[in-house]
This record gives sequence, structure tokens and C-alpha cells, in this order.
Amino acid sequence: MMMMMDNKAALLVFLAAAVVAVSAGEARFAEAPQYRNGEGCPIIRPAASASVCDPGLVHIAMTLDAHYLRGSMAAIYSLLKHASFPESLFFHFVVTADAHLGHAVAASFPSLGFEIYPFRAEAVAGLISASVRAELEEPLNYARNHLGDLLPPCVHRAVYLDSDVLAVDDVRRLWETPLLHESAVVAAPEYCHANFSLYFTPAFWSDPELGARVFAGRRRQPCYFNTGVMVIDLGRWRAGDYRRRIERWMEIHKEEKRIYELGSLPPFLLVFAGDVEAIDHRWNQHGLGGDKVHGSCRPLHHGPVSLMHWSGKGKPWDRLDAGTPCPLDHTWKHYDLYIDDAAAASSPGGQCPSSILAAAW
Ligand SMILES: *[C@@H]1O[C@H](CO)[C@@H](O)[C@H](O)[C@H]1NC(C)=O
Repeated sequence: MMMMMDNKAALLVFLAAAVVAVSAGEARFAEAPQYRNGEGCPIIRPAASASVCDPGLVHIAMTLDAHYLRGSMAAIYSLLKHASFPESLFFHFVVTADAHLGHAVAASFPSLGFEIYPFRAEAVAGLISASVRAELEEPLNYARNHLGDLLPPCVHRAVYLDSDVLAVDDVRRLWETPLLHESAVVAAPEYCHANFSLYFTPAFWSDPELGARVFAGRRRQPCYFNTGVMVIDLGRWRAGDYRRRIERWMEIHKEEKRIYELGSLPPFLLVFAGDVEAIDHRWNQHGLGGDKVHGSCRPLHHGPVSLMHWSGKGKPWDRLDAGTPCPLDHTWKHYDLYIDDAAAASSPGGQCPSSILAAAW
């Protein structure tokens, strides 16, 4: 890989660039090391200068918000670092109010190809119901329902990723997941050992119009899947008006009957469970943030790892800052571009904050 051979060059570029790190509101982020395509790269223009419609691009959709920006930055960095053709990655960022978030990304990744999509919280505000964790009610959690509308029609497929993920493999492999069945709109790792009943209320299961009837006619047994990592066929999504199908369930939940507890996940399960194209579990090693209440440490699941996901309450940046990191949070730290001004000011001799040195692998 080019990137591996270029370590020294990348380090130099990086340390020089760190001096001109920009401010994103209160947080400051260092510029990421430069990245280049590996040998045998398909001849396309780099995403930064490409049209979003150029074939050959790998489209990645994420949200950006001030609270999770540090996670998003690390996720982007990890995706670029492990891509064999990083210049072919094109990012689609859905944001609410903060225009400066796009500037922060551009400053840390000067040659990144990306587009910003303003998302009006009012688009979903009327559909959201109270749930167990306040952060699950964030309107931006529902942005993934709107990718078919927001992204240009020429983008037929997108990989949707949460902000608390870290890629340790080439995302192109995930992107190339075949969605063989015509009814498959979404591909994601499935977890059929999880008790599917628990994602819905007894009132849902006991309703003769709802319950098992909802899932009759699906290709397979309905199983839980995590909506933080999905490959979405946007062509089929738009043709089937899947945003509307999801919102119909949100309306039923809000206006007619309490059918689930969590936020944006259950409507996705109601529409797609049993018709999801299964992806290898290596692409969503989830739950690293621990449970919903305590954010305790969790190990990786068995098997290979291509993407780590700190779903759950505990986020690696919070635990690192608190001085109580979990073992896997140290892996995340290698991708942290955040500049800790307080730590830099107190370190003798004005040395680089350790986060920068760590980020320069
Ligand atoms: C799943 O949860 C439901 C509801 O609590 C319970 O009735 C059922 O026995 C559980 N199934 C399994 C396989 O544990």
C-alpha cells in the first residue's frame, strides 16, 4: 500500500500541518496525514475534484453535529487510512444548523471530496416520540431516513455510517456488497440470536393487526440489525418510497399505539427485518460503548473485525478524557485528530499534544 510506504512523508506533512489546525467552534482538530491511491487504482479523478455523479466513487453518508464531531473526524480518518483507493471516497454529510462543521472537515482533510446537506429538524420533529435515552430523540438520528431525498439522484448506493465507528479495513469491500434479491433495499449484519420480540411492546405483539402479521411474507425470519452500518440501494429506496413507509410506523407509534421503546431503530426493523441482505458481522462489531445506562467496557465479538462501533452509552473520547478508557478505546485514540488545548498548554516545552503524535501513527 502506498500509504504504508509513505509513513515518514505523511508524518512530516502532518506535523507541519498541525500548526495551522482550525477551530470548529470550541474544538480544534489537526490536519490528517495526506493519503493517496494505491497502485492499480482505477483511473478516475480524485473525489475532491470529481463530480458527485462520476462512476467509480464510493459514496459514504454520515451526519455531522457538534457533539459527535470528534467521532466523525476519527471515523473519516480511519476510512481514508484503510482504503486502498482513498481518493475515490466521496462523503455526504447531513448537518443541522452548524455550518462551521463542514469547514472543520475541509481543514482536517483538504483534498476530501464531500458535499454538505442541511437537514431541517422540523422535517422529523412532528414524528418523534419520547424514548428511554434523550439522545435517541435527536432529529439527526432520523437523517438516515432521508438519504434518498437528500443525495443526488445519480447516487444509486450509499454506505451509511454512524459517527462512533472506526474502519480497520477497506470500506470498498463493504460498498461492493451485492444486493441480489429484488426486495433487498438495505444490507446490514443481522443478529438472529438477539430476542427480536424485545424491540417491540407487548401491545404490538398482541394486536391482531400488528405483531407477527407485519413480518409475514418476508423472505426470511425477521432478525435484529443495527442501523449504524448499512449499505442502502438508493434506487430501490426511492422507487419504493421507503422514507414514507418508515414514517408511517412513526405516525402509528406516536398517534395510535405505543409499539416500541427505542428511537429510530424499531421503524427500520418494522420495514426491513427479514428482507435485509446479510453482511458479514466483521462490518459491525457493535456495542463497544457498553449498555444504555452505564457505558461499561465490552470486548469485541468473536471473529474478524473490519469496523468497530461504539454503540451504547460510552464513547471513547469521553472515556479517554475522563481518564477511564476501556482497552479498545486506545485503538480509537490512534485516529483522534482533536487538539486538546488545555493539555498542550500544560505540557512542558510546548510539545505536540500526544493526540497528534498518536494520530500520526
Ligand atoms: C423473548 O422475549 C419474550 C418477551 O419477553 C419472551 O416471551 C420469549 O420467551 C423470549 N424468547 C426467547 C427465545 O428467549
